[in-house]
This record gives sequence, structure tokens and C-alpha cells, in this order.
Amino acid sequence: MSDEKVYVPPIKIQGIKTKIVPIIKQNIIIDEDTTWVEPFMGSGVVGFNIKPNKAIFSDTNPHIINFYNQIKSGEITSYKVREFLEKEGKKLEELDEVYYYEVRNRFNENHNPLDFLFLNRSCFNGMIRFNKDYKFNVPYGHKPKRFSKAYITKIVNQVAHVEDLIKNNNWEFKCQSFEKAISEAPEKSFVYCDPPYIGRHVDYYDSWDEKSEKNLKESLQESNKKFMISTWDYNEYRKNEYIDKIWNFCNKINKEHFYFVGAKETNRMPMMEALLINYIPNENGYNLNNYNQQIKYIL
Ligand SMILES: C[S@@+](CC[C@H](N)C(=O)[O-])C[C@H]1O[C@@H](n2cnc3c(N)ncnc32)[C@H](O)[C@@H]1O
Repeated sequence: MSDEKVYVPPIKIQGIKTKIVPIIKQNIIIDEDTTWVEPFMGSGVVGFNIKPNKAIFSDTNPHIINFYNQIKSGEITSYKVREFLEKEGKKLEELDEVYYYEVRNRFNENHNPLDFLFLNRSCFNGMIRFNKDYKFNVPYGHKPKRFSKAYITKIVNQVAHVEDLIKNNNWEFKCQSFEKAISEAPEKSFVYCDPPYIGRHVDYYDSWDEKSEKNLKESLQESNKKFMISTWDYNEYRKNEYIDKIWNFCNKINKEHFYFVGAKETNRMPMMEALLINYIPNENGYNLNNYNQQIKYIL
């Protein structure tokens, strides 16, 4: 654990689980034949750090899936990302927010995955948010010099790292609902779920409510696979009532975790994260002392 490295992927999302990757890693049960099934991949940071031989990553956000499928097919390479960001970064520096909104309009028309990356890395707080017409609507982050040489190199390295992982493993990326992902999971699968949180004001591609949470429980129970769910336990004001109401048959692992990404100040309160699992955890996985302080983040 002392030299644990966590690689950060190129696409950011609110609710990204970078900080709890080590604890997730410690508590999953997989071997080289297990298919890692991640129906709510978001940034992909969890599975990309677990590095399973076989994986099915999915999400209902088609732009995330498209981005990784284009890396897989070779249409997007780290080289092309550098060229693109250098060219577009210069225009952003010259034209500032006018150019950001030009790219945003262009993306909402053409859905170019490189524009998606550009927007994700220059918008306000690195968020992903779409309106009811499925248009990306995050405002500008107001940093015209955003794409400095060093920043572009950082993003290019993040892409190169994922490119490498995709090349060397048997990974699929699918745009689909969690129900489909879970019901079609291969016989020997481990399912890691990180759904949007009910009752937290976070905007995702899809909405999430009590019915969705109940459907998730049913899908997981029907599938008969080992699973882990990320959720929140409590913060200063509230407790996640769904843990007792819906997930009361699971074991719970938790440790305090702080959210940095989120537009609203009220969402930045320290809160307790929880992992819910339907199996007996690894013996050494239960020691959660100071895991946060021992991790190096490769940003
Ligand atoms: C909390 S984020 C996942 C974050 C991810 N674990 C990470 O660390 O970056 C939840 C994701 O679920 C996706 N999503 C929302 N509703 C969904 C559904 N019904 N089926 C599949 N994915 C869904 C969202 O698009 C979003 O990417």
C-alpha cells in the first residue's frame, strides 16, 4: 500500500472515485479469469486502476463510451490529442470564452469526442452535465491559458496510459443501461457499481431516484454475481437512509472521503463514503487506517 499509485484518466466527472480506488482494490475479489463489469464507468478511474484482463465498461453517456471506443479503434491516439489541443488551445487563448462556446455549440451538433475532451478540460470545475435535450451545458472555466504546454502533456500522458491498457487487455466499452450490463454479465464476473447518488444534487446524463436504486438491487440480486456498490453513508446533516432500506443485506465498508468537484458549496462537505458488498470482505481489506495519506496521485 505504501507506494500505491492511482492513475487519473483523461475525462473527469463529478463524483470521480480517485480517492477511494485503493480501498476498492483491497476489497474486491477477482482473479485473472474474472470479467470486471462496471455499468456506471464515468471517468473509468476505478477499473482503469484495477487493470483486469477482461472488462466490460459501460455507461448511458454515449460521449464517454465513444471517446474510449475511438481510443480502442485507434481513431484517437495520444499523438492526435496533442495536435488537437495545441491547435484548439491557441484559439482559446486568442478568443477566450467566445471560442469555448463555439466549441460547445460545435460539439452539441457533431459530437466529436476530441471536442468533448477539450470541453471537459476547460469547462467550469471539470464537470459533465447535459440538459434535458442532451446538450452539454457546463459554462466556461474562464482560463484562456488553460491548455499550456505542461497541461497538454499531462492530458496526453493520461490518454497514452489508457491507450496502453486498452491495447493490452480485453476491454469492451458499451453505451447501455445498468440493467442490460448486469443481466448480460458473463458467468464469472465481478460487478462494481457507482450509480449517481440519490438525494445529492448532482446532474448526470441520466437521472436517479428511489425506483432506480430498487431496480439496481433487483438486477444485482437476479444476476447472482459478487458485487460492490459505492455510495455515501452520511455527512454532517444527513444519513443515507437507503443503506438500511434497500441494501440491508450487504456488508458495509466506510472511510471519510472529501468531494472536491461540485458546483455547490453545500456539496463540498466532508462526507463518509461507503462500499457495500454481498460477500465476506478480504481479511486484510478491513484495515482502513490512513489509507488516504499513503497514496500518490498521478494527475
Ligand atoms: C457517479 S458517476 C460514476 C463515477 C465513476 N465511478 C468515476 O469514478 O469516475 C455515475 C455514472 O453513471 C452514469 N449513469 C447514470 N444513470 C445510468 C444508468 N441508468 N445506467 C448506466 N449508467 C448510468 C452516468 O452517466 C455517470 O457517468
